[in-house]
Amino acid sequence: MNSASSRIRSQVGIIGAGPAGLMLSHLLHLQGIDSVVVEARSRQYCEERVRAGLLEQGTVDLLVESGIGERLKREGLVHFGIKLRFEGRTHRIDFKELAGGRGVTIYPQQKVLQDLFNARLNAGGRIFFDAATVTLEGIAPSRGEKPAIHFRSDGAAYELACDFIAGCDGFHGVSRPSIRAGALSVFQTNYPFGWLGILAETPPSSDELIYAHHDRGFALLTMRSPQLSRLYLQCEPDDDVKNWPDARIWEELQSRLASKGWVLTEGPIIQKGITPMSSFVVEPMQFGNLFLAGDAAHIVPPTGAKGLNLAVADVQVLAPALVEFYASGKRGLLDQYSEKCLRRVWKVQRFSWWMTAMLHLFKADNAFDRRRQLAELNYVTSSRAAAQTLAENYVGLPLD
Ligand code: FAD
Ligand code: PHB
Repeated sequence: MNSASSRIRSQVGIIGAGPAGLMLSHLLHLQGIDSVVVEARSRQYCEERVRAGLLEQGTVDLLVESGIGERLKREGLVHFGIKLRFEGRTHRIDFKELAGGRGVTIYPQQKVLQDLFNARLNAGGRIFFDAATVTLEGIAPSRGEKPAIHFRSDGAAYELACDFIAGCDGFHGVSRPSIRAGALSVFQTNYPFGWLGILAETPPSSDELIYAHHDRGFALLTMRSPQLSRLYLQCEPDDDVKNWPDARIWEELQSRLASKGWVLTEGPIIQKGITPMSSFVVEPMQFGNLFLAGDAAHIVPPTGAKGLNLAVADVQVLAPALVEFYASGKRGLLDQYSEKCLRRVWKVQRFSWWMTAMLHLFKADNAFDRRRQLAELNYVTSSRAAAQTLAENYVGLPLD
């Protein structure tokens, strides 16, 4: 131990206060297990970062059952269908009919984080913000060392000693790179486009999400509230928001989302950002006493809105495994963590890839590929079996 460090202790050390880290800390607390969260950014930054907005039924159920669903129940917009628009026509996928009455809920990731921060901090949870020089030690499987997280926060150095570390620090965090070279297999594919996302102060022009296939590229209409629209446009992977003045964005949205008799209402754009797209998985998702969860272990393209939901699903597997360990000393569920998560992760990867491939304009597309995409869309919107496959994946597969 560094002699200048203050030594603190918890059963579980969690790196990252995103949906995975905070939800894990919350679930452990409900079972009487102590955790400390170490977060590189400020609370305000975490709560304001504009990201996901669509929760699967299973995520909603977990938030409600774990006691933090009050605002979600009040403000969440429940949807029982989506619209697929291609060749100017609109086709609805009906979840009530095709997905056993399950639906999805529009509720912004920032609000999920605010609700989780409030729950943790009101319950006396320990979260270190603005943590710098975060490093991990003692995670190797066979050396019998005790894990620790070293970091600096508010001018002081800390050593957090714990039994387990949960690496919930997103794609660019330190947890995954702390695992020794060669211990993980990496599976990755990149896409030749990104998404330009905007928030606009205008009521959503549709009561349900519209996914549009268009010769100029993909577009998506979604929302954050009855007053706030969120819209996405397929753009170049290395594009810059400077290339996208407001007038160009609306012009492009108007052409890609156009449909006879339907009006896209414009309004002031209050936020713009570009997200590159990739599919990424590491196997296994655990190494000794370190467990990776959420974006630290896998990334999906946003077309199926799965990133946040998958992060939450991981910790729904990890929390009971830790509970079992502390109740009985058994590592059975902990040892199965990665295998159990990866079964879901790969199904979700498949779905996100499929939605992405069906709806976007690929650089190398030829007339054959575009006809094939349209045939796929025609099939999905005319065959009950195909529509059901989309619907049940979209609302979220059950936990294994
Ligand atoms: P994160 O939310 O990334 O949280 C990780 C946390 O770890 C962060 O707070 C970070 O500051 C912290 N951290 C990082 N490094 C360190 C370190 N060294 N030490 C301590 N803390 C650290 N998904 C959708 O479903 N729909 C969308 O529209 C959508 N849009 C997105 C837009 C963007 C720009 C991005 C990046 C992602 C988007 N996603 C979307 C994905 C979704 O937001 C993520 O899948 C989800 O946030 C994953 O949660 P997480 O907790 O695993 O990771
Ligand atoms: C969102 O609301 O941000 C959203 C919804 C559906 C997606 C992706 C993003 O497929």
